[in-house]
Amino acid sequence: MEKLVITGGRRLNGEVFISGAKNAAVAIIPAAIMADGVCVIDNLPGIEDVASLSSTLNKMGAVCEYIDKHTLKVDSTGDITNCAAFEEVKKIRASYYLLGALLGRYKKAEVALPGGCNFGTRPIDLHLKGFRLLGADVEVTNGIVKVKAERLHGAQIYMDQVSVGATINIMLAASMAEGTTIIENCAKEPHVVDTANFLNMMGANIKGAGTDIIRIKGVEKLHGAEYTIIPDQIEAGTYMIAAAIAGGDVTVRNIIPKHMDSLTAKLAEMGAAIEKQDDSIRVMANGRLHCANIKTMSYPGFPTDLQPQMTALLSVCDGISVVTENVWDNRYQYVAELKQLGAKITVESRVAMIEGVQKLTGARVAATDLRAGAAMVIAGLSAEGTTEIDNIRYIDRGYEDIENKLSALGADIKRVEI
Ligand code: EPZ
Repeated sequence: MEKLVITGGRRLNGEVFISGAKNAAVAIIPAAIMADGVCVIDNLPGIEDVASLSSTLNKMGAVCEYIDKHTLKVDSTGDITNCAAFEEVKKIRASYYLLGALLGRYKKAEVALPGGCNFGTRPIDLHLKGFRLLGADVEVTNGIVKVKAERLHGAQIYMDQVSVGATINIMLAASMAEGTTIIENCAKEPHVVDTANFLNMMGANIKGAGTDIIRIKGVEKLHGAEYTIIPDQIEAGTYMIAAAIAGGDVTVRNIIPKHMDSLTAKLAEMGAAIEKQDDSIRVMANGRLHCANIKTMSYPGFPTDLQPQMTALLSVCDGISVVTENVWDNRYQYVAELKQLGAKITVESRVAMIEGVQKLTGARVAATDLRAGAAMVIAGLSAEGTTEIDNIRYIDRGYEDIENKLSALGADIKRVEI
């Protein structure tokens, strides 16, 4: 077991290079088994979820090997089992993309229900509704989702709720259905677009990703492709918020600034100085920032995956801030940990009210999920004294090399065996 130990109060200066997008990687790696060929996926983040998915694909009969730390070769020309019901699968929520990928290619799949973070219910009813509309029989027994179809046919699918996972999963299956599928009220996140681009490189015919309506003309086969995934907007946002809370001058490199617009605007509103360049954003902050109100929305709104990190920053801003979590029904479990550091926050259902305090004080806290762990790191950078963070396996699921990237910026942060 390990913990992170942070001594707060150090300003951050310099540049940090952002890794590939976790939520693109965990969709594109399963999609690679749809190819009757070899895919090479580059710019993958060095994180647990990628390693876990690669191991899962190997157990299913694909041959996955790392060409280098960030490049994975996936050979799916052999016999791939359409059953993924072993322990590894339950470790991450994104395993559910195996359903869409296997249903698309083999018209059959059995996948264990996903695990993932523990903030509220995380149903997959919209995924299964889409599969049924494409012609699949769906049943869920003993925690295993079983889908199969004589043939998949195009369909008109209106998403009851904007869902990243369901949009991507239905897109996977529909890309090899007979005929045209139209998905309406789609998620528009950058990783939805990235997955569509990857599928098109494999020979799919997908138009409109990134808008409310995606049109898919099914094809019979998909071939191998080489693809470089997009940078991680949430990792980038986490470092931008870290610069804002610690003070200093940090340039976040290897990003797509457009993906950061909702956060960039909010940090500027709070008093940080922001400079956008082609593939980087510079964040300069000195002293306390002003309070602000945040409403999380699907893209291009303020991302729910930056809500915990932003709440940590708001806890030391001047004035009273209000955060409304519109995506998940229980994403404030980390607030109890922030309060141990001295934050003044009250939560009522989906709304958190944050009264900015002069300073936080270091304490021993725990990561309750991936982004909550990132929020503890951000709070620790600002807290007086030492902050110890347990359960950092959550953080390692989504952040590559977090302690070295922050140390290089001047933070006093160490990973310690316990
Ligand atoms: C993806 O989760 C991300 N995970 C999450 O990031 C992110 O918080 C979320 O999208 C929203 O942006 C991955 O991409 C692996 P949704 P996903 O389907 O796809 C409801 C992180 O930290 N819903 O967009 O599971 C659902 O309950 C993780 O990187 C249904 O009701 O999210 C939620 O309220 C945490 N039925 C809302 O829709 C369904 O069938 C949005 O969920 C599916 C979703």
